[in-house]
Amino acid sequence: SHELKEFKEHEGKSFNPAKIIFLTIFNFMTTLLVGKQYDTESELFMKLVEFEGEVRTPINPVGKGVELDIFPWLKYFGHPAYKKMQSLVQTKDDLWRIVNRDQDGESCFATALCTAQEESVDRDGANCLTDKHLMMPTIDMLLAGTSSTVNTFYCYLNIISHHPDIQTRIQEEVDQFVGRHRQITPDDKRRLPYTQAVMLELLRYTSVSAFTILHRVLKNTTISGKKVSAGAILLANLWALHHDHSFWDAPYDFRPERFLEADGSVVSPSHVNRHLLPFGAGPRVCVGEILAKTRLFLMVAHLAQCCTVSPGNVKSAYDPREYPVSMFLSPKKYEVIVQMRQ
Ligand code: HEM
Repeated sequence: SHELKEFKEHEGKSFNPAKIIFLTIFNFMTTLLVGKQYDTESELFMKLVEFEGEVRTPINPVGKGVELDIFPWLKYFGHPAYKKMQSLVQTKDDLWRIVNRDQDGESCFATALCTAQEESVDRDGANCLTDKHLMMPTIDMLLAGTSSTVNTFYCYLNIISHHPDIQTRIQEEVDQFVGRHRQITPDDKRRLPYTQAVMLELLRYTSVSAFTILHRVLKNTTISGKKVSAGAILLANLWALHHDHSFWDAPYDFRPERFLEADGSVVSPSHVNRHLLPFGAGPRVCVGEILAKTRLFLMVAHLAQCCTVSPGNVKSAYDPREYPVSMFLSPKKYEVIVQMRQ
């Protein structure tokens, strides 16, 4: 609703929605993790924007970090990528200091972890949960939970502004099965199959997380006939899976219908033709999958209920092949024009 208030203020004008999306999703995560909301002038917001900007370069596969993988001793000679990694570690520590300082002391994730730490005393009186055990999940959730969804929704507004037919269809579905005034809830998923299909197609088409994170192979194994030794590092290419011509007809067309059965219901996750893994798979699957899907569904449906989005004065390609290479993919800067629905 914060987002919609901001959109209302920009009604009829061409604007870049990036900051509004970032602040809305960031505040959703901080409410969960710290029990507080922030403005754009706050230390936490500025640190996270700094981290988000910096993280894109050293982890970028075409960046200088690759040299360090091959010649790790370069770090002793002031290698710029190593220096950047060190500054990232510092920013991460700063983020934790702020989260620790700001937590509400009642019902948020960070406070729950601190309570668990106090209770985790072993026989010798030492805490089994160290500060690092508390910091890593909290900062991981803040970073992964914000950037992934911000970039996905930034892609969405660009795509939808160029697909008025799809936008109209979502609006018609929402109007018919929820109406213009009732608040949309996660329970509405079963009433809004087309809206759900749009969200699934968004996850496939954009594949903002093009790869899974790195996994170390624990024992010798075989994958698709290829021997893989214990200790090898693997990552799955989700982008390739989601744009493979043998699985998807015209993979670079945005077509929500590919996730619908002939009777209009959503194709079940176990369907043989649903080769969709935007959150990875297995024991290390994204911990935020349910949260992310629910939040995206609510945002797509709520937006359709209240606004119509069309292209603004600044345009950038919505086709994901044109997105700059980065840890999370998203389009270059663009603008939209939002009209509130009567
Ligand atoms: C559109 C949204 C999102 C996408 C596309 C996405 C995608 C992914 C992917 C592909 C992985 C790697 C899985 C693997 O290596 O097999 C991952 C891991 C992770 N994600 Fe997400 N994610 C999203 C939202 C979120 C949210 C909302 C949170 C937090 C609430 C989150 C927290 C994490 C964490 C902590 C990990 C590491 C899990 C581990 O190593 O065990 N993600 N995500």
